[in-house]
Amino acid sequence: MHDDIRRLTAPDIRARKGGEPIVCLTSYHAHTAGTVARYCDVILVGDSLGMVMHGLETTVPVTLDMMILQGHAVMRGSRRALVIVDLPFGSYEASKEQAFASASRVLKETGCGAVKLEGGRRMAETIAFLVERGVPVMGHVGLTPQAINTIGSFRAQGRDESDWAPIEADARAVADAGAFAVVLEAIAEPLARRISGAVAIPAIGIGASVACDGQILVLEDMLGLSPRVPKFVKRFGELGPSIERAVKNYADEVRARSFPGPDNVYAMRKPKR
Ligand code: KIV
Repeated sequence: MHDDIRRLTAPDIRARKGGEPIVCLTSYHAHTAGTVARYCDVILVGDSLGMVMHGLETTVPVTLDMMILQGHAVMRGSRRALVIVDLPFGSYEASKEQAFASASRVLKETGCGAVKLEGGRRMAETIAFLVERGVPVMGHVGLTPQAINTIGSFRAQGRDESDWAPIEADARAVADAGAFAVVLEAIAEPLARRISGAVAIPAIGIGASVACDGQILVLEDMLGLSPRVPKFVKRFGELGPSIERAVKNYADEVRARSFPGPDNVYAMRKPKR
């Protein structure tokens, strides 16, 4: 368990390449951020919050304001872990300048330590521009959910060797551009192993095998709160049924007038003599 006060930085995470596995989870609330930060090195405020918190079908409608609101809450609730906030779709792709304007808002308004953006070779120039101007960037290649409308489905990448070259080139481009780490999402195990070995920065896997330098999952998925999860998610908890049970018990007790009981009400003060 980690209780240190100093926050980890992007260079701290970068320096862990090839060392002890880097433990990452998402969090979108002050309360869960406190728990996650006690055990993890990195908290990602991912744009998957659109799906897990807001019931959206994809991450495409997520806005910069939504990311900043939740990023700020996570910073308030956590210590020690490096907090990384996703740049959402439409907030960085148009130009390097647009990306810097969005990233600087995120850093200033949340106090987080880095941003993440999706895309490999096509984003390399933008990543270099941000890093040169003081914005630590985590890349994200393989399955890039913000591109759902062009890729058509959330399917695993690199399952045929003939598809490997562009994915590896994307990861190398992100690393060469100065990113401090790169997320590999839904990538076949041999390709993930090859990329992790090829790039000089930590490769953080989500559905990309144990060959990566670290792992990340979406908190609600691993806690058993999400109704549908990809194959790569292991449910480390089953909170869905226990929340259901608690809410049902509450509703039953309110209807039966057995809640609030004697322990849950304020008694009158004894009159002063
Ligand atoms: O938004 C998110 O949760 C992510 C993870 C899948 C890495 O980007």
